[in-house]
Amino acid sequence: MVSYGVIMPQLYGNIIGWGKYVPSQVVTNQDLAQRLNTSDEWIVTRTGIRERRIVGPGETASGMAVVAAHEALAMAGVKPRDLGLMIIATSSPDYLTPPISSQVQHALGAKDVGAMTMVVGCPGFVYALVTAQQFIASGAYETVLVVGVEVISRFLNWEDRATCVLFGDGAGAVVLHATDEPCGVLSFVLGSDGAGAEHLILPAGGSALPSSHETLVKGLNYLHMNGNEVFKFATRVLGRALRQAIAQAGLTADEIDLFIPHQANARIIESAARQAGLPPEKVFVNIERYGNTSAASIPIALCEAMEQGRAKMGDTLAFVAFGAGLTWAAAVVKLADRS
Ligand code: ACO
Repeated sequence: MVSYGVIMPQLYGNIIGWGKYVPSQVVTNQDLAQRLNTSDEWIVTRTGIRERRIVGPGETASGMAVVAAHEALAMAGVKPRDLGLMIIATSSPDYLTPPISSQVQHALGAKDVGAMTMVVGCPGFVYALVTAQQFIASGAYETVLVVGVEVISRFLNWEDRATCVLFGDGAGAVVLHATDEPCGVLSFVLGSDGAGAEHLILPAGGSALPSSHETLVKGLNYLHMNGNEVFKFATRVLGRALRQAIAQAGLTADEIDLFIPHQANARIIESAARQAGLPPEKVFVNIERYGNTSAASIPIALCEAMEQGRAKMGDTLAFVAFGAGLTWAAAVVKLADRS
C-alpha cells in the first residue's frame, strides 16, 4: 500500500514587530551616591552603568509588559486575539501566582490565547524566543508574542551598595510570525548549572522559606548576590556559548552584523565579545542608561539598535545572556530582509 504524506515546509519565526517600555523615573549614580557609600566613578568603572530607570508607585511588571507588547503588535500589524501563544519571561512577576502571562493576556484583550511564564533569570528572553521558534517550526502556532520584563528594583535592598547600583526596570517585546524563508533563530545554546544557585538568590518568599517576620528582619526577601562568583561564571560561559551558537549556525564571527548581549556589566560584555572574536564596533551597549534589566535587557537593546539604525532588516544578530540559576543562553537570529 502506498501512503501519501504531506511534506511540511520548514518554518521559521520571523521577527516582524518589536517594542519596549522603560519607566520615566531616572536614578543616576549621583543620586545613589548621596545616600550610599558609593560613587559615580566606582559604578562607572566597575560596571559601565551611569543611570537606570526605576518604577514609580503603581507601575507593575504586567503593566510594562503590556505597553511593550502593544508597541510590538502594532508594528507587526497583529491583533492580540490573532496570536497563537504568548511567552512572558521574568523573575519579578506581579505575583508568584497567578502567572503574569495570564494578566498580560487579559490586559491585551488576547481572548483565550495560550500564555505562559518563563522564569530563567536574565537569559529568560532568549529561552522564550527559542521556545517560541519551536512552536512555530512545529507548525503549532503561526504568530507568537515574546516579552522580557522585570521590576527587580522591588526586590533590592536599597541599603546594599553591592546589589542596588546594578539593576534597573523595563520591558521589551517581539512578535514572531511563521515564514518559510530561513530567518529568526538560526541556532541556539541553552545552559544551566544549578550548583551555583546560592550565588544569585532571593532566599525567602518561595515555598522553601515562606515570608515571615523573621525573613523580613534578616533581609531574606531581598536579592542576594555573590558578585565575584557571578562575574567569574559569566566570563567563563558567555564567550564559549557565543562561539558555539555562531558555529552551529554555520557562520563565522565576521558574518555577525551586530552582537546584542545581556547588559549586566560592560567588562563582562567586552570579555564575551573578545572571546568570540567580535570587534567593539559590532557590539551594542546601552547599559550606561538602563543598568541590568535582567530578562528585559536584550529586547530593550534590540529595539534601540533598530531605532538607531545599528541593526536593520536582513542583519544577522547574536544574543547572549547569563543569570540566576545559574543559567546562560546564546542565539544567532536573522532578521528577514523585507526590502
Ligand atoms: N560602591 C563602592 N564600593 C563598592 C560597591 C559600590 N556600589 N559595591 C561593592 N563595593 C566595594 C566592595 O565592598 C569591595 O570593597 P573591599 O575591597 O573593601 O571589600 C570593593 O568594592 C570591591 O568589590 P568587588 O566585589 O571585588 O568588585 P568587583 O570589581 O568584583 O565588581 C561587581 C563588583 C560590579 C558586582 C561585579 O562583581 C559584577 O558585575 N558581577 C556580576 C554581577 C551581575 O552581573 N549580576 C547579575 C546577574 S544577572 C541576573 O539574573 C539578575
